[in-house]
Amino acid sequence: MAILITGGCGYIGSHTCLELIKAGQDIVVLDNFYNSKPEPLHRVEELCNTKIKFYEADIRDEAALCRIFEENEIDTVIHFAGLKAVGESVEKPLLYFENNVGGTVTLCRVMNKYGVKRIVFSSSATVYGHNPVPYTEDMPVGDVTNPYGRTKYMVEEILRDLCTSDPEWSVVLLRYFNPIGSHESGRIGEDPNGIPNNLMPYVLQVAVGRRERLSVYGDDYPTPDGTGIRDYIHVVDLALGHVKAVAYARSHTGAEAINLGTGRGTSVLELVHAFEKVYGKPLPYVIAPRRAGDLPECYAATDKARDLLGWEATRNIDDMCRDAWKWQSENPMGYGE
Ligand code: NAD
Ligand code: UD1
Repeated sequence: MAILITGGCGYIGSHTCLELIKAGQDIVVLDNFYNSKPEPLHRVEELCNTKIKFYEADIRDEAALCRIFEENEIDTVIHFAGLKAVGESVEKPLLYFENNVGGTVTLCRVMNKYGVKRIVFSSSATVYGHNPVPYTEDMPVGDVTNPYGRTKYMVEEILRDLCTSDPEWSVVLLRYFNPIGSHESGRIGEDPNGIPNNLMPYVLQVAVGRRERLSVYGDDYPTPDGTGIRDYIHVVDLALGHVKAVAYARSHTGAEAINLGTGRGTSVLELVHAFEKVYGKPLPYVIAPRRAGDLPECYAATDKARDLLGWEATRNIDDMCRDAWKWQSENPMGYGE
């Protein structure tokens, strides 16, 4: 039985493909290359010395999905495919709803048609909105401030309704905190298009000379050093969480939301200083105004992941900085053209 990975050429998807293959799982990958390239999958093939079955396809294309389910014995889907840029989602909300929500509905319709009723979905800590930290899975969610976050909340609700309608469905809603870092080989990593929105990719591009300096968005938050606190999680730990989530989905039905975080908060300046240790020199930065929509702090309660999945993050912020820097210093232009 194979696992279908949608969006498997992306940042988290490519790392998860590698860990699934290492764990002995059969995988089939689909991606439309909206935000990725074929190269990461080739590098995953190299790293595990295995050929990966790949389809260039769009999750909104029902006929293409049917072909994939007809040609493969799929029993579980890990659904990464989606758009994730908050700013773009404010400018192009319909694109986000069509792709992230509409695409998921099409995928589920095809899954139902082929009797495949197991899905692990990439949700986000963003669904917690303004709850107090640490975020626990039983908190009310959906208080989100942008269309991207709303698509994550809406898909969570759609998948829960699907479980209510049909008790054979198994849904694992993985709420990621802030994935950073890369595989320790330095062969695969995060390669954003254009100017990075997120902290670590920006730090890395400053470090390789592609950007002049980092802007630290606000030093007047009610946190110990005044800068924003996030729960950064090593992308390999996150990928390993998916291996466990698939095992869980295969042995349970119903819907569960589960946080994938470390439970530890790190401020922007703490991350910059941890990075400087591997970089070996100061990283140029300036203090800038707060970014609209940012919260002072965000970190996970991790008990549920430990209890249900038997999973805990084991890599710390120094490991994340070391591996991120290995990737960026050895691939200064990412995957290139
Ligand atoms: P990514 O952009 O690197 O990967 C997503 C992949 O999906 C890309 O390869 C893209 O080409 C593909 N894709 C998008 N729309 C598609 C479509 N209609 N059909 C087929 N393929 C499509 O992003 P990522 O960081 O790897 O994130 C993976 C998932 O996790 C996304 O759903 C994202 O919203 C979610 N997530 C990411 C983060 C984060 O910080 N990276 C945090 C929380 C949740
Ligand atoms: C952002 C998104 C969130 C999304 C997540 C993953 C916003 C408001 N939130 O989360 O919805 O799920 O990315 O894609 O965009 N920072 C700087 N300078 C920078 C970049 C960031 O100081 O150049 C700070 C931020 O203010 C924040 C921290 O670094 O305190 C982390 O930011 P980022 O990496 O963008 O992640 P989130 O804001 O947590």
